[in-house]
Amino acid sequence: MFALSVSTHFDWRLALDDLDGSIAHAAALHRAGLLTDEDHEAMVAALQQLRADVARGAVTADPGDEDVHGALERLLIERIGPQLGGRLRAGRSRNDQIATLIRRWLRREIRLLTLDVLGVVEALRDQANAHLGAIMPGRTHMQTAQPVLLSHQLLAHAWPLLRDIARLQDLDKRAAVSPYGSAALAGTSLGLDPELVATDLGFDSSVPNSIDGTAARDVIVEASYVLAQVGVDLSRLSEDVIIWVTPEFGFAKLDDAWSTGSSIMPQKKNPDVAELARGKAGRLIGNVSGLLATCKGLPLAYNRDLQEDKEPLFDSVDQLHVLLPAVAGMVGTLRFDADRMAQAAPRGFSLATDMADWLVRRGVPFARAHDIAGAAVQFCEGAGIGLADLTPEQLSEIAPELTPQVLDVLTIEGSVASRNGRGGTAPDRVREQIAELGATAAAA
Ligand code: ARG
Repeated sequence: MFALSVSTHFDWRLALDDLDGSIAHAAALHRAGLLTDEDHEAMVAALQQLRADVARGAVTADPGDEDVHGALERLLIERIGPQLGGRLRAGRSRNDQIATLIRRWLRREIRLLTLDVLGVVEALRDQANAHLGAIMPGRTHMQTAQPVLLSHQLLAHAWPLLRDIARLQDLDKRAAVSPYGSAALAGTSLGLDPELVATDLGFDSSVPNSIDGTAARDVIVEASYVLAQVGVDLSRLSEDVIIWVTPEFGFAKLDDAWSTGSSIMPQKKNPDVAELARGKAGRLIGNVSGLLATCKGLPLAYNRDLQEDKEPLFDSVDQLHVLLPAVAGMVGTLRFDADRMAQAAPRGFSLATDMADWLVRRGVPFARAHDIAGAAVQFCEGAGIGLADLTPEQLSEIAPELTPQVLDVLTIEGSVASRNGRGGTAPDRVREQIAELGATAAAA
């Protein structure tokens, strides 16, 4: 029974939050006239001393303690005796305690993780700034589509991360509601004020329903989803990096510090950071799925199943604390080969749309323009040449609308520069975008 029940090996990390909760609860008991001034003072002094000892690692749970709450109550009673120490439990339950502590812990971790996510955004932005001239093949279906700026592609990985930060900040509104005072499920009869405890613990307010306060874990699930989304966004970025650093692509090289060799193949430089990011994403998705499954079908109010919420949440947070700085390091030290990307950019007839758009600007209906450009691609494929290699004779043979001026737009620079609407890949637009991204990140 004990081996199954015990949770101190993972919930001890909530010890300082538990003690802060106890200090706030002691104040509530005092205000309600359930602790004399003298008792309140002695209780808070002992709790503060215990807090300092826990913070420096001088005390910890005993093997016989079931959970962090029981361990800290035991330690308090050992220090001030059962006559005073035994008063603290009045009007509260481990059910409202744990629901409150995990939210408080989460709110702090969310802020720390936000900084880690911003580190990756910063690395992407710095690389985008440093390579404004570089043009690469943009892809859809993994097939060459249209040329884009490398900076545009890098920023396309930064925006989702900024949305993840917005999600974290938004869920903090829901995490900022304290369940303390809900007691076991029905609330307290001792005249304690949950709003004052909430304020003392840095929450915005207290829960309007004590059953919901002790039973709900949707905020934990929501956080684990956002953390999984961060993992998925890092995984997609990593997949790009993994492809770029293959010798076949050769668009970028990894820094030695952020890659590994092979124990047998001397030539290898493996993208382990990116691969671990991809792998961790699976694990983070597993944590959300597990949490949802734990909550599904649980009757109100508290059930011991809910003890299973902590390890997946802690795991998602811990994994990202390690992963995010590594991804930032990998991205920040990538060395891009602009020449190789530029050589690849026009391959696969990626300028065919530019030919069609050129025809449209000259009054040709797009359907006809699409056919003409398609015929040009077919012709070039047969002749083993690129679109830009077509002679004036060949052009007019393909379609009378195709004059030699079309060759002016059949360059990757011309193609990129022409996509100059908001959000497009034209260098001026991307420069604006870098500024907009910087402002969004600074406001986060
Ligand atoms: N260790 C428990 C948890 O993490 C704390 C609440 C236990 N409450 C109870 N009535 N057994 O959920």
